[in-house]
Amino acid sequence: MSSLSTFEINEPLDMHLHLRDDDMLKLVGPLTSNTFTGALIMPNLVPPITTKEALLSYKDRIKEACKDDIFDAHVTIFFQADYSYEFLKDIKEDIIGIKLYPAGITTNSETGVSSMDVEVLRPTLESMSKLGIPLCIHGETNGFVMDREKEFMPIYESIAKAFPDLKIIMEHITTKDAVELLEKYENLHATVTLQHLLITLDDVAGGMLQPHLFCKPIAKRPEDRSALLAAALKAHPKLMFGSDSAPHPKHKKESCGCAAGVFTSPIALQVLVELFEKHNCLNKLNDFVSLNAQRIYGLTPKKKTISLEKSDFVVPSSYKFKDEIVVPMYADEILAWSIKKN
Ligand code: NCD
Ligand code: ZN
Repeated sequence: MSSLSTFEINEPLDMHLHLRDDDMLKLVGPLTSNTFTGALIMPNLVPPITTKEALLSYKDRIKEACKDDIFDAHVTIFFQADYSYEFLKDIKEDIIGIKLYPAGITTNSETGVSSMDVEVLRPTLESMSKLGIPLCIHGETNGFVMDREKEFMPIYESIAKAFPDLKIIMEHITTKDAVELLEKYENLHATVTLQHLLITLDDVAGGMLQPHLFCKPIAKRPEDRSALLAAALKAHPKLMFGSDSAPHPKHKKESCGCAAGVFTSPIALQVLVELFEKHNCLNKLNDFVSLNAQRIYGLTPKKKTISLEKSDFVVPSSYKFKDEIVVPMYADEILAWSIKKN
């Protein structure tokens, strides 16, 4: 069988990304913007983004951090159950969607919603539905950690049923149940991360504990990973790539009380090419990493072609800027594909 030595990806989009702020933003921003043409940026800063003023100034800081690259930051705001219709109408053109977090379920989500009851969420959801603003959801209950996403399925269903015109994105799905739910409601879509296509709980905690693979939702069972991978490899039309690259300072990962989040920005495209090649599905990669998101969100991304070549990429042990140090997934390992320098 012939084996490829180069591969091109057009207009790669990362539809779930944490860019943080300040020096961390300056460090990690370019590690996405030099390869992706756009990304959906999460609003879980401290404090979270809930006002137009905070949103616009964050957009400016992202632009400044990524200024050398062709890159669009599609920002989101942090869901509040009592956003007024007027506020949402006014902010609509500046955002790509609104991210809903159950309170305390993940990093910086303490001010999330304390009830997932549709009636409690109705005021904001009704306005979003009327205005055509997509809803991105971190779908986990506070039940047993391996069951949190599965237990959230009825909540996704209740929102999907109550608001048939609302575009809902199940963020970073990790289970077979979530893949199956995509088929049931027209208005449900999903993102999946890099790590959840590759690892299971065994990789996180089956041997020595691997803090750099610890994230929320936690990686699940082999059959879950298989279902996610099968959906990604066929570029399921309702599934988008969203890395959920979530950098934390090295000392917060390698510590007693490890922060949740896997940092994948600098390796994402290289690993995706390797994975899709391994399964003979490279012809589906551009749909998974760009075209599905363009269709689902109605985006017209800036033109940007990333060329990869089959040559070793030694993943740096860390990335540094001033006092910030972050460790990427696969640190010090050798990947088969690297990004071609122009
Ligand atoms: C994310 C973070 O660090 O902001 N962490 C994670 O484990 N994925 C938040 C999130 O997306 O849950
Ligand atoms: Zn996230």
